[in-house]
Order: sequence, then structure tokens, then C-alpha cells
Amino acid sequence: MEKQRTIFLTGFMGAGKTTVGQALSKELGMNVIDTDQYIEQQQQKSIKDIFAEEGEGQFRRYEREVLQLLPKEDTIITTGGGMVIQSCNREYMMTSGYVVYLHCDWELLLSRLQQDTTRPLAGPDVHRINELYKSRHSFYEEADYIINTTDKTVEEIVQQLTEWI
Ligand code: S3P
Repeated sequence: MEKQRTIFLTGFMGAGKTTVGQALSKELGMNVIDTDQYIEQQQQKSIKDIFAEEGEGQFRRYEREVLQLLPKEDTIITTGGGMVIQSCNREYMMTSGYVVYLHCDWELLLSRLQQDTTRPLAGPDVHRINELYKSRHSFYEEADYIINTTDKTVEEIVQQLTEWI
């Protein structure tokens, strides 16, 4: 498959993928689609309710389906933090566009996620979040481009990405 002008933003929960995706789309004049928001609209349910009522396995199936059916030409796709855990998703993203990993230091992520009651996999259980982070790290690093967002403003991140693109 030939790569289209498609950018996939990946990274752990709380790394700022959705915020950066919106800002980058304005800067580059590209469309932006968030896979979580797309699933919520399609299912008419919050991610939290999908996890609670249908289970994580079903959510991962939705993620896989949505990734493949989204329009991609001239589009920035912001993905849920777990999109990379399925090898077929990683392969699909790498072959159909450019994958950018928004890396964020663990301490900052944790400070954002510990208080979070909206994400089903966040919350006060530090050990669980850390295990997830460790288990995904190498998958995120398979990206075409890695940017450390920890000490940067959204504007700085967008500028760096624009220079790379
Ligand atoms: C998840 C991350 C969430 C969302 C779901 C599962 C994960 O997206 O897809 O709660 O497994 O890391 P964000 O990374 O946008 O929070």
C-alpha cells in the first residue's frame, strides 16, 4: 500500500494526542479524526460505558475496525493509547501513513492520570498504570518520528512536527 498524506498520533493516555492533533490540523490545514470520539459517536456510548458493559475485548475490536475504515487522505488520526497493542494496527498505521509517537515522561503522565475518573484504565492504581506503560513502550517506539512533549507547549510541539513533515 502506498503511504498517503496521513499522520497517526500515538502515545500513552494523557500525552496530549487529541490536543496536539487539533492544533496540528489547524496549522497544516488537514482534517483531524479522533478514534475514541469516532467510536463513541458510532456506538452512541462513552468509552467508559463500552468498557463497563461490553468489555475491553469488544472495545479493541471497535478500535481495529474503525482504524481501517476511517478516511485517510490528508488526515491526522489521533489514536487511543492502546491502539498500538494490536500488531495488525501497528502494521496498518506504518504502511498507510506516518506514525508519530508523542512521548511524555512518566511522572507527568502519572500526575494527569491518577486523578482521572473518565478513562477506564486510569485512576489511583499506580502499579497498574505503570505496568501498562512498560508493556507498551516498545510498541510506541516503532514510530516514524518520536517527540518528547514533556517540557513543550502545544505550539512548540506543532512547530517541531511541522518542520519534520
Ligand atoms: C486507552 C486509552 C484511551 C481510550 C481507552 C483505552 C488505553 O485513549 O482509548 O480508554 O488503553 O490506553 P486516550 O489515550 O486518548 O486516553
